[in-house]
Amino acid sequence: MIVAIDGPSGAGKSTVAKAAAKRLGFSCLDTGAMYRAIAWKALADGVSFDDVEALGAIARDNEIEFGHVEGDPVPRRVFISGTEVTDAIRTSEIDRAVGPVAAVPAVREALVAQQQRIGRAGDYVVEGRDIGTVVFPEAPVKVFLTASAEERATRRVKQNEERHVGSTNYEEVLADIKKRDEIDSSRAASPLKPAEDAVHLDSTGKTIEEIISFICLRAEQAQG
Ligand code: DC
Repeated sequence: MIVAIDGPSGAGKSTVAKAAAKRLGFSCLDTGAMYRAIAWKALADGVSFDDVEALGAIARDNEIEFGHVEGDPVPRRVFISGTEVTDAIRTSEIDRAVGPVAAVPAVREALVAQQQRIGRAGDYVVEGRDIGTVVFPEAPVKVFLTASAEERATRRVKQNEERHVGSTNYEEVLADIKKRDEIDSSRAASPLKPAEDAVHLDSTGKTIEEIISFICLRAEQAQG
């Protein structure tokens, strides 16, 4: 069974998806981390973001895997072809590089196939942008999670401060979020848009707990 959580960056998808998965006893899959890993690999290999052929080849030829920190059921570690990139994919350089990389159809095609393979192996909470529309359109529970750009920037700055990676400058983070929203929702290949049958949740002013409880209830109802 798949619970699909889509929405713009910083709406709280990661926190919500991981906590809901833990509570439901599901695995969880962060598809954004996969696009980030491809952007990281492209930068590491010196591949130009205009070279769509080479970007597609990177996505086809490199397997992305997730790993656990001991004692934590949530798979937070990210590897691409065996190299750990858990922290390396959270920098502002990757924040900026990933939008154009995720807009390349050949990259999306390869990653969607990987995501479907992973998700079909069990019960998953899958978070991303096109999970309910493209990757798992048959998912019985679909949530489109949003929050205002300002609220998302505030949260991202806090997260970056805690992780000691990325920018902690509010104006800079807000500008990046707005730019990425624009790229994500205006791109031709799988633009960010809610599935017709998705439940819309605005997390501005709501507690994370309210959102998690709602999603778990929906999932339990769908399980029957
Ligand atoms: O969720 P995130 O911020 O880690 O996502 C990183 C980028 O990847 C973001 O620009 C949107 C893109 N993305 C996508 O196009 N499709 C997905 N399923 C997940 C993320």
